[in-house]
Amino acid sequence: MPSTAVIGLQWGDEGKGKIIDSLAAEADMVVRFAGGHNAGHTVHVGSEKYVLHLIPGGILHSGKTNLIGRGLVVDLAALLAEIDGLEERGVPVMERLRIDGRAHLIFPFHAQLDGLAETQRGSGKIGTTGRGIGPAYADKVARSGLRLSDALCADTFAARLQALVEEKNTLLQGIYGQSAIDGQQLLEQTLEQVECLRSIVVDGGACVRQAYAEGQRILFEGAQGAMLDLDGGTYPYVTSSWTGLAGIAGGAGFPPNRIDRALAVSKAYCTRVGEGPFPSELHDATGERLREQGNEYGATTGRPRRCGWFDAVQTRYACAWNGLDGVFLTNLDVLSGFEQLQVCVAYRLPDGRETTEFPGHLGALDQVQPVYKSLPGWQEDITGATSLAELPPTCQEYVAFLEEQMQTPIVSLSVGPGREQLFSCSPQAAPAWAKS
Ligand code: GDP
Ligand code: IMO
Ligand code: MG
Repeated sequence: MPSTAVIGLQWGDEGKGKIIDSLAAEADMVVRFAGGHNAGHTVHVGSEKYVLHLIPGGILHSGKTNLIGRGLVVDLAALLAEIDGLEERGVPVMERLRIDGRAHLIFPFHAQLDGLAETQRGSGKIGTTGRGIGPAYADKVARSGLRLSDALCADTFAARLQALVEEKNTLLQGIYGQSAIDGQQLLEQTLEQVECLRSIVVDGGACVRQAYAEGQRILFEGAQGAMLDLDGGTYPYVTSSWTGLAGIAGGAGFPPNRIDRALAVSKAYCTRVGEGPFPSELHDATGERLREQGNEYGATTGRPRRCGWFDAVQTRYACAWNGLDGVFLTNLDVLSGFEQLQVCVAYRLPDGRETTEFPGHLGALDQVQPVYKSLPGWQEDITGATSLAELPPTCQEYVAFLEEQMQTPIVSLSVGPGREQLFSCSPQAAPAWAKS
């Protein structure tokens, strides 16, 4: 009765969409547990490219249930547009999708407040996706947020939405000098949107626990990455949810001691979108080359991603606090053609000492210098490889070095965006259904 979790190991965009889509072939249920439409998960099927934002990555497979868990914040307009876009391409989304009624709603004023807060932060801005994620989670924590199931009951919802609108109008008009929200129009629009989804609203936690008890194979799909986790990440340059493994308990309503395998996805180098510390970032032509070879532009906002070498201090930290059983290493093909590759193995502190531990506070992280180990690269195109043995020796050595540094097995290698460009490389550690 396997349940498998897959999270991002770095700052997001590690290739989770591709890995989830591949693993979903052997799963019965795919469950998102955190975030919102700040996520952009790319899946390539043949010549078709799909970018999923809220909808779980099992949606392209028939016979799978895809659940938007209670830990998400959902912008109904964005969800309906995503559903429509996929349905137009022939994907029967409404048959395959369920959404937990406990999921919180993102309203248009949340996105507006997200933008205003960023402007207010000035040079200290976070570089959010502008989707209203932070303000919606803030309302949830403040206990003034509204959930999808609240909107199913029009009478009580109207009064609660009105109270929230009044609170936001005080802020928007009084502090930011903006015009007031039209509460009545927002109510009508929301009720209309909710009607389109009523038939697929469920008690998600009950569904996933029941499915697990029946022996179904559950796949938990992480969004963002460990370093964007509200508690474990590079706060305050993080997102507003628990993107690590622990997010599954709250965000899916699934007991943490029933997660049978904990896996993560990491790029063979490192990227980050938005502001915040990134010790192994490259500001030179090599960083530019990684961006171009890896086509590193955000799937949600189109922003160029910041690029740098693989950071073993960061990934080891993320493996440790999530108790990971294995890592999928993606974008290995992007490193083809580099003479030498660098791996950040330690940080040099301002006083000259070196540490292999990830610093606990942001001030220290801002001031560290990366200490690199240099490894020989490879020139061959590896996009057609189907096994570890087919990779050039220096490529195998690079993978082995990352594995040793992370102190966690690398279970599969991804050598291109396509579904078929993925193979298992550590059979003993891979879940039976993750083996290619
Ligand atoms: P996610 O947010 O973790 O799902 O990742 P994104 O979809 O935002 O970004 C990952 C990008 O890398 C997408 O464009 C994928 O199609 C692409 N990708 C995934 N795996 C590989 C790989 O092994 N090699 C290459 N070259 N691209 C990959
Ligand atoms: P996937 O699931 C990369 C980043 C934003 C910003 C910070 C806070 O595709 O890996 P937010 O809008 O969440 O308040 O922004 O988090 N961020 C991501 N970066 N991939 C993502 O998702 C991200 N989701 C949020 O760029 O730095
Ligand atoms: Mg992404």
